[in-house]
Amino acid sequence: MSVIQLAGIERVFHLGDSVVHALSRLDVAIDAGEYVAIMGPSGSGKSTLLNLLGLLDRPDAGSYRLEGRDVTTLSPDEQAAVRSRRIGFVFQSFHLVPRLTAAENVALPMMLAGIPVAERAQRVAQALKDFGLDQRADHRPDQLSGGQRQRVAIARATIMQPAVLLADEPTGNLDRATGDDVIHLLEALNERGMTLIIVTHDPKIGTRARRQLMMEDGELRQDSASTRLRQLDDNPPGPLSGKGGDGESPAAPAPDKPSAGAA
Ligand SMILES: Nc1ncnc2c1ncn2[C@@H]1O[C@H](COP(=O)(O)OP(=O)(O)O)[C@@H](O)[C@H]1O
Ligand SMILES: [Mg+2]
Repeated sequence: MSVIQLAGIERVFHLGDSVVHALSRLDVAIDAGEYVAIMGPSGSGKSTLLNLLGLLDRPDAGSYRLEGRDVTTLSPDEQAAVRSRRIGFVFQSFHLVPRLTAAENVALPMMLAGIPVAERAQRVAQALKDFGLDQRADHRPDQLSGGQRQRVAIARATIMQPAVLLADEPTGNLDRATGDDVIHLLEALNERGMTLIIVTHDPKIGTRARRQLMMEDGELRQDSASTRLRQLDDNPPGPLSGKGGDGESPAAPAPDKPSAGAA
């Protein structure tokens, strides 16, 4: 089932006399458990798209179904409730609350969701341990390294066990090694079933994802999933190579015997 379904999405910004079509005619469906990279040049609409998916912004036209429910027509309060329970968001610049400790930052979504204090404390302790931050529980963000801050942010984004984890250039403020750690952490969450959508302009990161969406001028120019489907249409698997549609390219070249009697 599609966890995300966008149809006919438009997002237009007006700046003085100029009009920017940040997103145009966007149709895309993402299945539960997918690992998707959104790529494309600066200004192509990647963040606008992610903000819409995260219910931080609304489209000017089109519909967005999250887990089968149309969330475009919800009131701001209803959207906030969906966001708090079903969506995790990780930003390039972490967006932690500066005067709160690591533990308090991670606890914040559970406070907003009204989870009782005892359960909160227990889940925060477990999350800090899982993310290698148990020695940093009482540190404020300015007392943490960049990698530690992003791990706190990921712990906070996932503490409510959302259906979808959205990350906008999550390694953009980190050195390569620390960035790789963060990517591995996100991938481990995806392997446990969380749908993962990463915006990146770094091809090294983008090609790790199982599916790439290429944005340009607010339009979806290429979707590796539909490219694969087209290739399957053009070159259907023969009877012996039907290992089953897991989306992986075949390891061995397909037999080049032309199919007899094409219509
Ligand atoms: N709040 C806004 N007001 C006006 N223009 C915006 C706003 N947000 C984004 N834009 C414009 O929309 C386009 C897409 O921006 P964005 O989604 O941030 O691109 P990307 O993340 O791919 O770099 C750009 O031309 C940008 O200037
Ligand atoms: Mg951006």
